[in-house]
Amino acid sequence: MILLTGGAGYIGSHTAVELIQANHEIVVIDNLSNSAVESIRRIETITGTKVPFLEGDIRDEVFLDSVFQKYNISAVIHFAGLKSVSESVAKPLEYYDNNVHGTMVLLRAMQQAEVKQFIFSSSATVYGEDAPVPYLESMPRGRASNPYGRSKAIVEQILTDFHSAETDMSITILRYFNPVGAHSSGMIGEDPKDIPNNLMPFVSQVAIGRLDKLVIHGDNYDTRDGTCERDYIHVVDLAKGHLCALNQMAAAGIHIFNLGTGKSNSVKEVIETFQRVNGIKIPYEIGTRRDGDLPACWACTEKAENQLQWRATRTLEDMMRDTWQWQQKNPNGYN
Ligand code: NAD
Ligand code: UD1
Repeated sequence: MILLTGGAGYIGSHTAVELIQANHEIVVIDNLSNSAVESIRRIETITGTKVPFLEGDIRDEVFLDSVFQKYNISAVIHFAGLKSVSESVAKPLEYYDNNVHGTMVLLRAMQQAEVKQFIFSSSATVYGEDAPVPYLESMPRGRASNPYGRSKAIVEQILTDFHSAETDMSITILRYFNPVGAHSSGMIGEDPKDIPNNLMPFVSQVAIGRLDKLVIHGDNYDTRDGTCERDYIHVVDLAKGHLCALNQMAAAGIHIFNLGTGKSNSVKEVIETFQRVNGIKIPYEIGTRRDGDLPACWACTEKAENQLQWRATRTLEDMMRDTWQWQQKNPNGYN
């Protein structure tokens, strides 16, 4: 059985669907701080499978021990954590507590239960501000510009040290680029609780009329059209990457993989594609640069292609269409 921490959230719920459809048995834990139990119901509807769900916090040792005692868990995929860059600047202690301390409590519980396989949701942000593109897994971690990014880099370091002591463990660090899109059923997707910081949920909330207009954070970068470029990856492709990572986990070791498409798109290209594919106008204006934004970043995907036999296949058009389908079917998210 595979334990998904944070499995009610955006990436966890899509991964749950892919795992179940590949005949894995899963159990989900989540404290629902940034998700709704309705997402679990939707996973069940899509897959026709009952999903064991336990509401609880990864920082709660007693809770975790009870989960490992109750279920015969062979691997953990660890999604649970806080992910807003701006919030992490305002609440650094909460971020380090959830993301760093929470992961340590989880690793201790795994050690106790002798669970040897661990997959961690990391981020391209760990390459830091000065890394050349495309990002390669062999490059050193760089200087992150905010507590969220540093919490991911710290956990990666802790996992490396943990593996040095526990050499029979198989630890996989997946560095996500920019996950967007939603399941093709339109039943699960990204449901930010507050006004979104990230581009894609902002665009779709403008499209549905919940927000008036998008502000593009700067159009004077040294890029194709002056706006920032990112490696947007369809969340279902990303979810399938976890399945491939799980399938190659027999060997002990510490493995790091980028999960991206290897291509970049600018903010203007994203808006143009959303408008074209969905036939909707997105009002926008050009604002000033956002602190900490990099001009362009994208993944080198060779390692994941060669070693995980995984590559993203969904296009930017797919991402835009599926984002809009989810938003239209669920104008107020899971509420
Ligand atoms: P999400 O907020 O939708 O999912 C995270 C889930 O974890 C939520 O359901 C939340 O309720 C739960 N959670 C948070 N703290 C918890 C705790 N202490 N105990 C139990 N549950 C807790 O976010 P997501 O986009 O699905 O991201 C999943 C993981 O991937 C996170 O670790 C995030 O940092 C990482 N990541 C996300 C992105 C992205 O752009 N979405 C990019 C890179 C990395
Ligand atoms: C951000 C975080 C990153 C985190 C990721 C997922 C920063 C600096 N980086 O990545 O650490 O892992 O989210 O949570 O915050 N944009 C606009 N207008 C908007 C929103 C975004 O123009 O209203 C632009 C941004 O300037 C950027 C692009 O859209 O160029 C993508 O932004 P976003 O979705 O926030 O992702 P990242 O900045 O790549």
